[in-house]
Amino acid sequence: MQLRYPHSWAERCPAFSQGVFFVPPHYFEHHASLFPGWRSLFHRAAPVWIEYCSGNGSWIIEKAKQHPDKNWVAVEKKFERLQKIWKQREGAALNNLFLVCGEAWTFTHHYVETESVAGICINFPDPWPKQKHAKHRLIQDAFVEELVRITTVGATLTLVTDDLNYRDQIVQTCIKHHRLISLHPPLFFALEHEGYGTSFFDALWRKKGKTIYYIELKKIGAEGFEPPTHCSQSSCASQTALCSD
Ligand SMILES: C[S@@+](CC[C@H](N)C(=O)[O-])C[C@H]1O[C@@H](n2cnc3c(N)ncnc32)[C@H](O)[C@@H]1O
Repeated sequence: MQLRYPHSWAERCPAFSQGVFFVPPHYFEHHASLFPGWRSLFHRAAPVWIEYCSGNGSWIIEKAKQHPDKNWVAVEKKFERLQKIWKQREGAALNNLFLVCGEAWTFTHHYVETESVAGICINFPDPWPKQKHAKHRLIQDAFVEELVRITTVGATLTLVTDDLNYRDQIVQTCIKHHRLISLHPPLFFALEHEGYGTSFFDALWRKKGKTIYYIELKKIGAEGFEPPTHCSQSSCASQTALCSD
């Protein structure tokens, strides 16, 4: 069995097919009502975790196997890569993994319900290393705003990259949002995350001796201050400033 694209280019429209939600590019008549919501999709109520930019899916397939108590969603815009995730999902009969073939902001903005997601992970989003291409990076104000909108208070956001410039852009974009606090003291990233899991690009870059950066954030309530666990008044002056933003 193979995953097939459900329509021709001329007839493109958002569609469910073979356990995948397809959000075609260059389509502009999105309607939230086309998407039934997590509970109907998974046939149960459980915390929803989304991985954006899933690539060939090795990270999220493992997570879905390790955590059957959670509902997992992989969002990947390239059909050929999504096919690989689909094949693994079908092979392992994972009922707790839903797939979206579409662009991250478009899917999120048009279809994901407010405060419906418990965790977000983005592993090695395309870094677009040339400055003139930086506008194509996924992590920008508008996308972070969407992540804050769809997550519940207390949700965690984990972003992983090997790219120094993108690391800094991610940190700056996220920590300036008044509903996000860093789980790490300044410089707001960690070099390790035990038990986090690995992906195709994680393995590739580690083999080449690259440093990997983990940026982890938590969404706080609208009323503001909620100290991260590491952040005591004496040990962390500038994080305290961040906390009280
Ligand atoms: C560098 S790869 C990382 C893949 C995987 N996360 C890993 O760590 O092996 C980036 C992936 O993100 C996908 N991607 C890039 N921009 C995207 C977007 N705006 N929406 C959805 N997927 C995107 C690409 O197609 C590619 O598969």
